[in-house]
Amino acid sequence: MDILGDIKRDHNNVKALFREFEGLGVNAKATRLKLARKIMEELVAHDEAEEQTLYGRLKERVRESDARIKLFEAYTEHTMASDLISKLQKSESVDEEFTAMFQVLRENVEHHIKEEEGNVHKIAKDVFDKEELEELAPQFEEAKKRVTAKR
Ligand SMILES: [Fe+2]
Ligand SMILES: [Fe+2]
Repeated sequence: MDILGDIKRDHNNVKALFREFEGLGVNAKATRLKLARKIMEELVAHDEAEEQTLYGRLKERVRESDARIKLFEAYTEHTMASDLISKLQKSESVDEEFTAMFQVLRENVEHHIKEEEGNVHKIAKDVFDKEELEELAPQFEEAKKRVTAKR
């Protein structure tokens, strides 16, 4: 599998986890908090690994202005998600405020996934050949492990 396949697998996984969170009853507060924290850990590792591998390489290689704007748009969405996650991680309970912020995070992430798979992956396919995309896959997985180990 190439890096784009790995990234899509993570996206499907996190979307399923968000659905699982939604399906938990409002009274399952401890389970909701645990699952929310798991989702956030996965998002942080995924986003940082993307930036260290795919995004970093694209930033070096992409020259075309529209494509660079799309890339920086995706970076900005990562920053927004990361800011929200920093706030959410301080919370000790799933109260109304947490639930609202977590819902905004979900909406942002789902929007980001759509654009990333549409725009960023298209740019990556224009810029890299098949072998390069395959070489990036283990680098992405290694970066994820490094980020997770650091936290
Ligand atoms: Fe992603
Ligand atoms: Fe991303």
